[in-house]
Amino acid sequence: NEKHFSKPFIGSLDQGTSSTRFILFDREGKIVLSHQIALKQHHPKPGWVEHDPMEIVSSMNECIDTVMKQYHSEGLGEKSDIKAIGITNQRETTVMWDTKSRVLHKAIVWCDTRTKDLVLKYTEKSKNISPTHSESFIKKKSGLPLSTYFSSLKIKWLKDNLQLDSTREDIRVGTVDSWLIWNLTGGKTFVTDVTNASRTQLMSLETRQWDRDLCEFFDVPSQWLPSIKSSSEVYGHVASGPLEGVPIAGALGDQQAAMVGQMCFEKGMAKNTYGTGCFLLYNTGSDIIYSQNGVLTTVCYQLGPKSDVVYALEGGVAVAGSGVRWLIDNLGLAGSSLEVEQLANQVEDTGGMYFVPAFSGLFAPYWRDDARGVMVGLSHHTNKCHISRAVLESTCFQTYEVLSAMQKDSGQHLKELRVDGGMAKNNLLLQIQSDILSLPVVKPTNLETTCFGAAYAAGLAVGVYNTDLVLPIDKKFTPTTNHKDNEIRINQWKKAVSKSLNWIE
Ligand code: G3P
Repeated sequence: NEKHFSKPFIGSLDQGTSSTRFILFDREGKIVLSHQIALKQHHPKPGWVEHDPMEIVSSMNECIDTVMKQYHSEGLGEKSDIKAIGITNQRETTVMWDTKSRVLHKAIVWCDTRTKDLVLKYTEKSKNISPTHSESFIKKKSGLPLSTYFSSLKIKWLKDNLQLDSTREDIRVGTVDSWLIWNLTGGKTFVTDVTNASRTQLMSLETRQWDRDLCEFFDVPSQWLPSIKSSSEVYGHVASGPLEGVPIAGALGDQQAAMVGQMCFEKGMAKNTYGTGCFLLYNTGSDIIYSQNGVLTTVCYQLGPKSDVVYALEGGVAVAGSGVRWLIDNLGLAGSSLEVEQLANQVEDTGGMYFVPAFSGLFAPYWRDDARGVMVGLSHHTNKCHISRAVLESTCFQTYEVLSAMQKDSGQHLKELRVDGGMAKNNLLLQIQSDILSLPVVKPTNLETTCFGAAYAAGLAVGVYNTDLVLPIDKKFTPTTNHKDNEIRINQWKKAVSKSLNWIE
C-alpha cells in the first residue's frame, strides 16, 4: 500500500452541515484514507436548525481516531509523516462557549431563520440612525446584506436570549473553525481565519479586522471574538490524541476551500459546488467588488500572513441536490439520484415545461423569502422524464442567473466553470450546465476539492505543497446547443421565476 502514496501526508478535517470527515492526503494530493460521520440535525421549532457543539467535537475525534487506527494498522507511515492538518467548515454557523470550554447554547446553523424578526428590526434601525449604521454602510463594510444567514444576528440573538452582560470577559463566540481549533489545542488557541471571519458580518473587508462600527451596530462585544488569522499558517498544535503535536496550519470556510482545492488562483476563475444547494464563487483578485446585482462580496483566501488577500463574489442557490431528493422522497418519482439522471436522459428536452424549486424562497440573485416552487408549461405530453430533466435544468438556470449577475458586477467574462460536489457526478447535469452557460464546464478527477483545499492551505504553511501541483481533470463538457435556443429557454425560465415570485396574485 505504502508504495502507492508519496509521503509526507496532510490531514484535512471537513466539518460540514450534514457530516464531519477526516481525510488524509499524500504529497501529490491523492486520498490515502478517509472517514465520515453524519451529524444530527436538531429542529426545535419551525425554521430553527441547531447542531450540538459537543457532538461536532466527538465526531471530529472519532473521524481522526478511525483514520489513524487504519493508518497504523496498514503500516502506511508514522505520525511524524503527517506534517499538518487543515480545517474547513460549514460557514456562518455560530457556537458560543466560555473560557472553561462550557457550551452556552446549541450551535445556530447558517440556514436557521430564528433571527428573521431581528432582520426586520435591524432593517428599521438602519433606516433611522447615523450614516455609519445605514444598510448601505453595513453592506459596504462587510460585503453582506442584513439577513438571517450571517453570524452577526445569531450572536445578538444568543446574547439577548442568554441575557449575557456585554462586559463579560469569559465568553467565546465564533464559527465552527474556531470551535474546532479551540478543542484541538485544548483551549489554548482562539482564532478564526479571514474567510470565516468574512461571513460573520462583523469584519471589515478592507482592514480584515473586527470592525468597531459593525460590532456596535449588531451589539456584539468584540472581546468575545477570536483573533483573525490568514488561511495558511500554524495556529497551534494538537494537544492530545493520535495526532498530538501535529501543527494545525490551515483553515477556510468550505466554499472558499473548494476555490483553493480547484486551484482557482487567478482573477476571473470560478467554481460551482453542487451539493444540497449550490455555491458559485468568482475570484476578483485584490478588488473588492460590491454587487449591484444581488450577489455577495467575500474573502476568497489569504494563503499566508504575508500574502495578499484575494476576494470573491459569491452567489448561493438554495435548492440544487435537494430538488432531486424532493423528487425521490416526496414524489417517489425515482429511487435514486442516478435514476433521476437516467429518466432525464430518456428525453431530449423538457417538452416546454419549467420547474422553479423555490421551496423556501429564492437566494441569489433574487433574495425573496416569499417565493414558492412552481411547475409551469405542463401538457398531456409531460411525463416523469420531463419532470426529472426540468429539475436538473433548474439548477443550471439558477447557476446561469448567479453567474450573469457576477459578470455584470465584475465586467469580466468567464472562460470556463470548474465544478465539484456530490451532484457533479451527474454528467447530464454538467452537459446541460455547459449548454445553458454557453461555456466549457470542467470536472476534476477528485471531487473532494473542499477537503483538498484545506489540506493544501495547511501543506503550504509547512512546506509540503507548493504551487507546482496540477489539478487532474476527469472530463470537460463543451456547449452543444445554439445561442438563439438558449436565449429563448432562458427567457422562458425567467417567466417561470416570475410566477414563483407572484404566484399568489
Ligand atoms: O454557507 C453555508 C455553507 O458553508 C454550507 O456548506 O456544504 O456544509 O452545506 P455545506
